[in-house]
Parts: sequence; C-alpha cells; structure tokens
Amino acid sequence: MKTRIIKIDSKNISTAKINEAARIIKKGGVVAFPTETVYGLGANGLDKKAVRKIFLAKGRPQDNPLILHVSGIDQVNYLVNKTPEKAAKLMERFWPGPLTLVMKKSKAVPKAVTAGLDSVAIRMPKNKISLELIKESGCPLAAPSANISGKPSPTLAEHVIDDLNGRIDAVIDGGKVDIGIESTVLDMTQEIPQILRLGKITKKQIEKVIGRVNDKNISDNKPRSPGMKYRHYSPNAQVILVKSNKESKLISEKHSKKKIRILKYENEIKMAKNLFKDFRESDKEGYDIIIVFEPKGKEFGSAILDRLKKASK
Ligand code: TXA
Ligand code: MG
Repeated sequence: MKTRIIKIDSKNISTAKINEAARIIKKGGVVAFPTETVYGLGANGLDKKAVRKIFLAKGRPQDNPLILHVSGIDQVNYLVNKTPEKAAKLMERFWPGPLTLVMKKSKAVPKAVTAGLDSVAIRMPKNKISLELIKESGCPLAAPSANISGKPSPTLAEHVIDDLNGRIDAVIDGGKVDIGIESTVLDMTQEIPQILRLGKITKKQIEKVIGRVNDKNISDNKPRSPGMKYRHYSPNAQVILVKSNKESKLISEKHSKKKIRILKYENEIKMAKNLFKDFRESDKEGYDIIIVFEPKGKEFGSAILDRLKKASK
C-alpha cells in the first residue's frame, strides 16, 4: 500500500485536505494525525474491521485497548453506559486536553476497540487538525500512538513515516506536536478514580476538581491498564539515567569505547517536547548508549521519569 502524505498548515487548515483524510476514514482506512500529545493512528472507532487494521499496522498486542477520540463532550454519552458525575466535571475542566477517561462502555463500542474489556478510554484532543478530522469523519476515532509497538511515540510526521510507511493509508503532516508525551489516563470506573498513566495533567490538578484520586501503582498487582505491562518508548541504544554530572562522567569513562550521547534539558517542558525525537535521532546516528539527566520527578517531571524508567529497562 502507498502511504499518502497530506501536509496541513496548523495555522491555516485546508478544508479540502481534511476532507481528503476524512474520506479515507469513512471508507474504513487508517490515517495518522497530529494531536497535542503525540501523533495518533486513527480509524473509525465504531467499525471493528477498520480498528483491526490499526493493530495490524502497529504490530500491537491484541489485548491492549485503544483510546476513542471525540470532538465534543456531547459525543461521550453514546459511547458509555452512564457518564459518572466526576468524569463530567473533569471533561468540563480539562477537555479539550491531554486527559483520557476510562468509563463503562456502551453497546455502540466494538470489543475490538477495548480488547474485550467492558470499559472504554475516551479523550478530546486539543489540536485543531485532529478536531476537524474527527468532525468531518463523523465518528469517534480509535487511535493509539502512531509508532510500531514498543518504539517511542511519534512527535513528528517523519517519525510516523519511518515506522509505518507502506502500512497505513495516509499521514497528516501537521508539524511538531505541542506536549511530546502521551495523555494522562484516569480510570473512572472505580469508587476512587485511579491514575493508570501519568501525563501532563497531574494528580494534583485532578484532585482540585474531584477530590481524592489513587496513585498509579498502589491498588493491586494486576495491571489495570493492559498497556502498562509491555515494553515501551525504547530506542535501540541503551538508556542510562543519571542525576549528576559526576555520575554521567563515571558512566562515560566506564564505556569509553562506546558511542555515547548525553541528553540534558533546560526544563521539563523542553524535555517532554524533545525526548522521543532525540531517542529516534540517536538510533539513526548509531549511538550505543544514551545518558539522560533525570527530571526532578515532581508533577509533570514524574510523568517524564515514568517513560524514562521504562525506556531504560
Ligand atoms: O496522548 C495519547 O493518549 C495518545 C494520543 C494519540 O491520543 N494516544 C496513546 O494511545 O497514547 P496508546 O494506545 O498508545 O495508549 C493508550 C493507553 C494504553 O496504556 C492502554 O492500555 C490504555 O490507554 N487503555 C485504553 N483503553 C483502556 C481501558 N478500557 N482500560 C484501561 N486502560 C486502557
Ligand atoms: Mg502507545
């Protein structure tokens, strides 16, 4: 299959080009598109045949469910049994934005989307291209990150092309994403909602709106978010985390015969924006080892650190 590249200027969105991409979705095809977090790989979320193509293109394990992307809060009711009151409050406060809510699904959502679970993950992205695409397609878009499973999520269209060229119908090139790491995932099916994946929207921000929320790890030993058990975000190079210049120097000396790249960022915002791109570039340039200076580990920093820990395993 030839993958079409549809370039869209995010500051001057071409209706004709959005229509071109939406036509592919309506016909049951698969289109990668930018969101504010990372690029997603979208298909009609109500069409199980189209959804299966996403799993195939990514090499994604069948038991890892997808997020449905909507363009308005009013579209949620059709997809869930009942919108919990706390979820409604969070949508009002954080949508469009990088917060995914897991709720009991309705019959309208195929099991292919939820990997057999009776809950469904939903979010409304804060990116005009994705919102226009969802509107024009006339359906929620099921979309995981648009990378080959296990690789770092794409933050540029060229990352999508590197991974999926020839395997998907099209990619919308809308330039660099804004945030650079995936959305916060929050399970609303429990009495006390639980964070399943850390992201830009922090626990503190969520608790301000709905009160107590459980942390990512404490509840039980069975992974509630199936995606959490898989290897993620991994460049080919070995990732080593350090806290100080001294530590970095020691490691560089120990591996003096290897090709080493050191990643140190000014702040968390820049780190999130560039980390996955820098991982991918390091692989292209053939580095053996990537030394990364850890973020401080509070708030947004803890979301980045979470990805780094998985990448360094
Ligand atoms: O920022 C994002 O969330 C990006 C953009 C494209 O929206 N998407 C993304 O999707 O990161 P993906 O498929 O790479 O990650 C979705 C995560 C996985 O860890 C998955 O297991 C979890 O959400 N998830 C999806 N549905 C779930 C459900 N019903 N219950 C628990 N976890 C769920
Ligand atoms: Mg992913």
